[in-house]
Amino acid sequence: MLVHIGKIVNKRIIGKYAIPAFNTQDLEMTQGIVRAAEKQKAPVIIQTSVGALEYAGMEELVSIIKIEARKARVPIALHQDHCHDFNLIKKLINLGYSSVMIDASHLTYKENVKLTRVVVSYAHKRGVWVQAELGRILGNEDWQKVKSGKDLMTDPDEAARFVSETRIDTLAVAVGSMHGIPVNPKTKKVLTTLKEHIDLERLQAIRRKVKIPLVLHGASGVPDQQIRFAVRTGVAIFNIDTDLRVAFNRALRENLKKHLSIYDPRKILAPATDALQDEAEKKIKILKASNKGRRPD
Ligand code: G3H
Ligand code: ZN
Repeated sequence: MLVHIGKIVNKRIIGKYAIPAFNTQDLEMTQGIVRAAEKQKAPVIIQTSVGALEYAGMEELVSIIKIEARKARVPIALHQDHCHDFNLIKKLINLGYSSVMIDASHLTYKENVKLTRVVVSYAHKRGVWVQAELGRILGNEDWQKVKSGKDLMTDPDEAARFVSETRIDTLAVAVGSMHGIPVNPKTKKVLTTLKEHIDLERLQAIRRKVKIPLVLHGASGVPDQQIRFAVRTGVAIFNIDTDLRVAFNRALRENLKKHLSIYDPRKILAPATDALQDEAEKKIKILKASNKGRRPD
């Protein structure tokens, strides 16, 4: 069932289990995520990036997600990921999103607060949650910066101030994770070790100061034991995109290599959707969200 994010993310889950926020771009990814949630009887967030809305069409993708979520036997919330554009946020709120991320982390602290407060005021009047980001969660193209990027990370005291000045509902924290898979552009070597340095003390310090649910972005590629620690430390939402894409992509290529003569997209895509479902189920289990998808209270 399609539910408000507040039905599945709340203080009761903090430290016990966490909710995966899976990115989707199309029908197959959406169905793979929903099947995983149903198989694991888990609540999940399905989220869209601006790029996914542009790729699939906003109304088309949102309709697919809403229909799949409404049919699902577990609670599913719809969230907009990383958005810099207040006008687009207004459109998405009117389309039924129960949570939106205004990502103004590239601005100065003051400008971030200013824009975030405008979005919070509009969203809260409509019962919609707002996520904002403090510190910089970089992309794999910034992997060198991440190596030394202490100053890019979220400062616990500033985080407490930011939350009270903006009245946001969830906070995306920069504690060393990064989007995507860090690859050295020269050697093309995957730098997974870079994703192994979540600053867990910093996360604990933020948790002590910030009482709203924390969100860890860039969770793909972060070692399971760090994810589990972050769940215990009180991260309530884990954003996962790349690991689903990699699972989908690997299965698709294997399928095409094995079956050179197939040409029916349904036969080409089905094994990839299954692989994505398996990966999403793995993530659900690591977050201890299995069997937490009872009817929302
Ligand atoms: O906003 C989306 C997530 O932060 C995706 O990160 O691709 O590393 O899983 P990921
Ligand atoms: Zn992100």
